[in-house]
Amino acid sequence: MADSHTSSREALTSRILPQMTLSSGLSPSLPSSLHPSPRDSAPGRFSIAGNAVITGGTGAIGLVVSRAILQHGASGLMLLDLSVDASQPAVQALRAEFPQAKIEARSVDVTDEEAVTKAIEETVQTLGSVDMLVCLAGIVSCSHALDTPISTWRKVLDVNTTGAFICARAAARAMISQGTGGRIVFTASISAHRVNFPQPQAAYNVSKGALLMLKSSLAAEWARHGITVNSISPGYMDTVLNEGEGLAEARRIWNERNPMGRMGLPEEVAGVVVMMLSRAGSYLNGADVVVDGGGHVF
Ligand SMILES: NC(=O)c1ccc[n+]([C@@H]2O[C@H](COP(=O)([O-])OP(=O)(O)OC[C@H]3O[C@@H](n4cnc5c(N)ncnc54)[C@H](O)[C@@H]3O)[C@@H](O)[C@H]2O)c1
Repeated sequence: MADSHTSSREALTSRILPQMTLSSGLSPSLPSSLHPSPRDSAPGRFSIAGNAVITGGTGAIGLVVSRAILQHGASGLMLLDLSVDASQPAVQALRAEFPQAKIEARSVDVTDEEAVTKAIEETVQTLGSVDMLVCLAGIVSCSHALDTPISTWRKVLDVNTTGAFICARAAARAMISQGTGGRIVFTASISAHRVNFPQPQAAYNVSKGALLMLKSSLAAEWARHGITVNSISPGYMDTVLNEGEGLAEARRIWNERNPMGRMGLPEEVAGVVVMMLSRAGSYLNGADVVVDGGGHVF
């Protein structure tokens, strides 16, 4: 052991560091309708072009974000979730409301690299391209750090952080081979920025905090391919994650500590995602937008 340690220490001095290549400013970008132009118009500024993959696509925020993306002009959607297919009522409702768009759905676990790669390939085959990825798949876990089983810790980081990386890399590979560039949005949380009160949730906080650095790292590495990577950090949303009598006292505390005195709505998150995916977001890269009614100021 000592020998191999010594030789690996010696090898340090002969390493050659891989170096990032930054964009020359001429990188490919999203379809031409997304390029900012001097003749930009008010509706055009928030138009969205191309096809989006949404993970956690049939979750509470996922469905609202999906609808907003379609309203702003996306031509196709691939919804990925743990258990979903195109016959599901929520998917059928989107198809009925947006008959001009191609809407598909697949059951995929974001921690399964092979399944994610296959789903991205299928998206290219059925929709024609992958231009945007919005990662919303996520799980919560509240327990005291002293009591949290390591299996729970690993699971939360696996889904929330590693799952987002697996999806981002598979989508980026498709975008690079298309030569079109693309947009990637991660869903972090206010829990990535501060320790929330009163619930103990170290694993969730760490999983979301890591996403902020993943977003920055990929924004730096992939700009040369015309791919931007940003994140949103929602505050407490009025969704299933925060429902139930058992959370009544926590909800009272959260609202009391929020300047706006209430939880947010998925629609209020969706608007920011639209901005990130639209023409208006062309020069946004490596940014995080906190959407929490100002709760993080305390
Ligand atoms: N609701 C909130 O208050 C809030 C606040 C901040 C951040 N967020 C984040 O927003 C995202 C969406 O949350 P939501 O409120 O819509 O919750 P949700 O539970 O309704 O949606 C999450 C979706 O992710 C899916 N999912 C879970 N594990 C998966 C896996 N391994 N593979 C594929 N899909 C998986 C679930 O099936 C679900 O449909 C999550 O990442 C969450 O952490 C939510």
